[in-house]
Amino acid sequence: MNITSTYEAWLLEKEALVTNVRAKMGEHRFCHTLSVAKETLSLAEAFVFSENDAKRLFVAALLHDYTKAYSTEKQLSIAKEYGVTLSKDDLASPPVLHSRTAAAVVSKKFPNDTDDEICEAIRCHTVGKKEMSLFDKLLFLADYIEETRTHPICQETRKQFYEKLASGNNKEKTLNDTLRQVLQNTIDYVTKQGNKVHSDSLNMLENL
Ligand SMILES: [Fe+2]
Ligand SMILES: [Fe+2]
Repeated sequence: MNITSTYEAWLLEKEALVTNVRAKMGEHRFCHTLSVAKETLSLAEAFVFSENDAKRLFVAALLHDYTKAYSTEKQLSIAKEYGVTLSKDDLASPPVLHSRTAAAVVSKKFPNDTDDEICEAIRCHTVGKKEMSLFDKLLFLADYIEETRTHPICQETRKQFYEKLASGNNKEKTLNDTLRQVLQNTIDYVTKQGNKVHSDSLNMLENL
């Protein structure tokens, strides 16, 4: 797969979706969204996804931060409106709310472009969950390592991940090792801020 030409072709194919997403966020987040989508193409290729699955992962990336620009108050009202159950940990971590609400909103708003697996990957893209599918894991990782992330930890994670893959390391093991490191980084950060770590992240880490 030629990543750049596939990326451009699929953005055109999903033009209506892209236009809708563009209207939901500022320039910076939109660039991040596009970059996550592009990243999923590299990951889908590395993990030998079919064209159909790669395109579904691409759509999940386009929609993953669909509600992120909303205030906490609005997240809560969307959750109520869409019947989204929020756990105690979700409520204690406002940055998690957008993943829960985005999954519910895009499922209703884009029924022809989404399915259960796409919405589930969006739902758990912030803090993970105990049993992550490969599809869930790749969206989660793409969000963290996409090219426009400027944080040195994200850049280093990206570099090491692709280097390990290129040197022929076992792909599943490389993915799980990388995710373990990502979670550990996040846990260290959250703990340092004096906040409680979300139980879904602890469960994911334990299960990797
Ligand atoms: Fe997000
Ligand atoms: Fe994101």
